[in-house]
Amino acid sequence: MIVAETREQLAVARAGARGAVAVVMTMGALHEGHAELLRAARAEADTVLLTIFVNPLQFAPGEDFERYPRTVEADLAIAERAGVDIAFTPTPEIMYPQGEPAVRVDPGPAGNELEGASRPGFFHGVLTVVNKLFQLTRPDVAYFGEKDYQQLGMIRAMVRDFDLPIVVRGVPTVREPDGLALSSRNRYLAPAERQAALVLSRALTKAARSEDPVAVGIAEFATEPEVKLDYFVLTDPMLGPAPAHGAGRLLTAAWVGGTRLIDNIAVDLP
Ligand code: PAF
Repeated sequence: MIVAETREQLAVARAGARGAVAVVMTMGALHEGHAELLRAARAEADTVLLTIFVNPLQFAPGEDFERYPRTVEADLAIAERAGVDIAFTPTPEIMYPQGEPAVRVDPGPAGNELEGASRPGFFHGVLTVVNKLFQLTRPDVAYFGEKDYQQLGMIRAMVRDFDLPIVVRGVPTVREPDGLALSSRNRYLAPAERQAALVLSRALTKAARSEDPVAVGIAEFATEPEVKLDYFVLTDPMLGPAPAHGAGRLLTAAWVGGTRLIDNIAVDLP
């Protein structure tokens, strides 16, 4: 595995890449969910490129940018085992040599909904870095987790609207045996919070089986008063208005102590 820290090292490694190139973009603190993305990439592509970069642009002041886990040695060991060919591990100075970029990708009105409503500027930051990493890595195919369902939708929209020659693949969420969706932020949770956090997956699963999913999901959150619900919504699979029947998506976000968690599930409405 080649570890590229600079743009020049990445360019050399990328020039030597053979066949179809897949990229998996991460902020590090890799877990089994990321390993699943890497496995999917390994199964499809000839060259697998992993990026590890904690992107300051997508953190608002007061969010967890400083304390976000940085575990690059362990991440590279996981990457090596997963058969990654090239790992790109830039610093903010390498990614943003002129400082914070004045020009950013505008996510459009959908970028102000759900995560964008609670985290203003979040999708501007995500799409800007994803776009830059697309330019630097020039992949044929890119893998993103369905855990960040709205992010996946926004990236698909950017690829479509900017005519980027990249296939975007979503990979189902990986969960702990008790249902908790894997997230790098789970490591912030104290044991009691970890237990309380199960309400997210429990509410989604109960709601998905009911005839009134939003009411049932919100009611389930009431059983866990320590957890502060941000939103629990039903949309269509493309994040459009809630369908009356057929395929839909339930999405939720909640604060468990000082940790904000998100989760979602597919639903088939009778
Ligand atoms: O999902 C993430 O880890 C990040 O938002 C991403 C896509 C790597 C951009 O920084």
